Formats: sequence, C-alpha cells, structure tokens
Amino acid sequence: MDPNEALRVLHAEHDRGLAIISKAGSTEELESAKVSVLGRKSPFTEVQRSLGSFGPDDRRRLGAVANEVRTSLQAALDERRAALSGLEEGRLLEADRVDVTLPGRRPRPGSLHPLTIVERQIVGIFTRMGYRVAEGPEIEDDWHNFEALNIPPDHPARTMKDSLYVDIPGLLLRTETSAVQIRTMESQEPPVYVVAPGRTYRREAVDATHLSVFHQVEGLAVDEGLSFSDMKGTLEAFARAMFGPEQRVRMNPDYFPFVEPGAQVAVSCFKCGGVGCALCGNGWIELLGAGMVHPKVLDNCGYDSERYTGFAFGVGIERVAMARYGVPDMRLFVEGDVRFLEQFQGVA
Ligand code: FA5
Repeated sequence: MDPNEALRVLHAEHDRGLAIISKAGSTEELESAKVSVLGRKSPFTEVQRSLGSFGPDDRRRLGAVANEVRTSLQAALDERRAALSGLEEGRLLEADRVDVTLPGRRPRPGSLHPLTIVERQIVGIFTRMGYRVAEGPEIEDDWHNFEALNIPPDHPARTMKDSLYVDIPGLLLRTETSAVQIRTMESQEPPVYVVAPGRTYRREAVDATHLSVFHQVEGLAVDEGLSFSDMKGTLEAFARAMFGPEQRVRMNPDYFPFVEPGAQVAVSCFKCGGVGCALCGNGWIELLGAGMVHPKVLDNCGYDSERYTGFAFGVGIERVAMARYGVPDMRLFVEGDVRFLEQFQGVA
C-alpha cells in the first residue's frame, strides 16, 4: 500500500465508521461496528500495520491522521454506547412498568363442604342442648356393629343392609353410626348425652337419594326416667332449629332391632311442598331413624336396664343437607364440581 492509498483508506474508513456507529440500534450492533472499523482485521488496522514500511515523513503524517481517526471513531463509539444504554434502560423500564393504580387480584376464597357445614349445624344444635361429641372407628367389629345392637348372626336385620367387609375376618365398614352407641356406653357410666358424627358404608345402589358412602350423626341419651316424649320433643326441637318452624315434621313407627319402639322422622319435601314428586315419592323426605334404646342393648353394655332408659337416633347428613339447601340430587355432594361447591361460600 502506498501513502496516498493509505490516506484515502483512512478518510474512507472514518466516514464509513461514523455512519455505521450512528446507525447501530443496540449495544450488540455497536460492538460489531467497533470490530468492523477498529478490529484486528479492519482496513484501519491494515493501514496502521503498513505505516512502518513508509518513509519517516509519510509515517509521521499518516500516523497523526490515523490517531485522529481512531480518537474520533472512539469518541463516536462512546457517545453512541451512552445513548443506547439510556434507550435500553428506558425500554426495560417501560416493559416492567407496574400500574399501581390497578385493583389487586383477589384470591378466590374457598368454602366449607356443604356436608361439613350441615354436620356442624346438626352437632351444634345438640351441643347447645348439652350433648357432648363422641367418636368411633369406621372399620368396626361384629360385636359393636351387630351383636351388641341386638342383631345376632342369624337375625334377619343383617340382610336389611348389605354390608361391606374388609379382608380381616370379623371386621367390616360400619353400616351405621349406631356402633358408637355401644362404644360410648362401654366406656362411661350413665347419664349419657352424646352425638357422634361420622361416615358409614353400605352396599347400595347409588341414586338421587342414596349413596354407598354417606354420613350420619348418631344421638344417644341414657338417664333415669327418659321417655318417648323426651325423644319426640328433642327431635322436634332439632327439626325446628334446622329447617325453621314452617317445615312439617312427621313421625312414623319403624323397626330397628336396637330400639323399642322405633320411629322414622321425615320432613315435608322441599321440592314439591309435600304433595309427592319424583324426588320424594310420597311428599316426605326421610331424615332419621330413632327409638327408645332396647333394654337388651343397655344390658349388653353393662347398664342397669331396670334403672335407666334412653333414646337414640341416627340422622342422615346428606338428606338433611338436601332438604336444607334444596339440593335435588345427593350425588352432587361427592362429584366435587366447583360450580356446585362455590355456592356455599360464606355459609357457616
Ligand atoms: C339407621 O341407620 C339407624 N342406625 C338409625 C337409628 C339410630 C335408629 C338409632 C334408631 C336408633 P337408617 O338405615 O334408616 O337407620 O338410616 C338412617 C338415616 O340415614 C336415613 O334416615 C337417611 O337419612 C340416611 N341414609 C340411610 N341410607 C342412606 C344412603 N344409602 N345414602 C344416604 N343416606 C342414607
């Protein structure tokens, strides 16, 4: 390269450099502009390398021009870099902008399951009357689920409810919470006033008013001098507290081996108002079984049946929940559909 060509390249590179530096739209583009104009393989560096081959005058003159070009390009690079980093910061800030005046996103509150709500309501009504809460296991033995309840092995009542057995002989999933009556009386002396909420299992066809896994609240009162009218008054007070004074309550004779006499309590159907419909059949929804504790059951638990009398009842929680909230199909309680469950938000 001769000195004139070198001078031309330096001027041309200066112009080209300023142009591409000013066009760089990002720090990456600016970096590649720098490599292109001042990098090791750039025409500018090539000129610098050839300076040594020139005479002393040309070397000094062209060296000075090369220095000016480098200083000028470097200044342009610095200036552009400062401008770009300001721009990019602005862009980032814009992208991250938070509108503090927007309303917050409220987390959706959960709700208690309707069966939990109703269980608490039933238990609450009785604990306010002075009852205490008792518990028993869901896997029961033959004694507590049947024999002590006056249902011996050959008793026809065993076929009234189809039971679900577990693999261990003599054990089954309890068919009714009445088993807790026995456990309570075995573990304490009278007087007894308890309610026992819990899950029960039966081999039953599932439909709008039956599940094979459902819930009951058992009640048991044993004391001196308790009579059928105490039971009637207690259950009527319960029905009024649960459904309001306008709902009609009916008590019919019924048979359970562990009570004598036995009764069945129903409320007028919420759907048809008591005239009869596809849901209730005859205008009534059966809520609970009840009766005076059979003397044999008291004897089985070591209570003196000459001195003590008592009454017991078993309320179906699903049935009460249907009647209380107008739920037309019991299966809704177990399907876990949020659209159904969220309707109970705020209900306590
Ligand atoms: C009993 O289970 C007796 N243990 C009740 C009892 C207790 C009587 C103490 C006397 C003294 P029953 O099988 O009728 O009785 O059930 C009682 C209640 O549980 C019914 O009124 C109903 O509300 C509910 N229930 C019964 N079967 C089902 C089912 N398959 N699905 C949902 N609820 C049911």
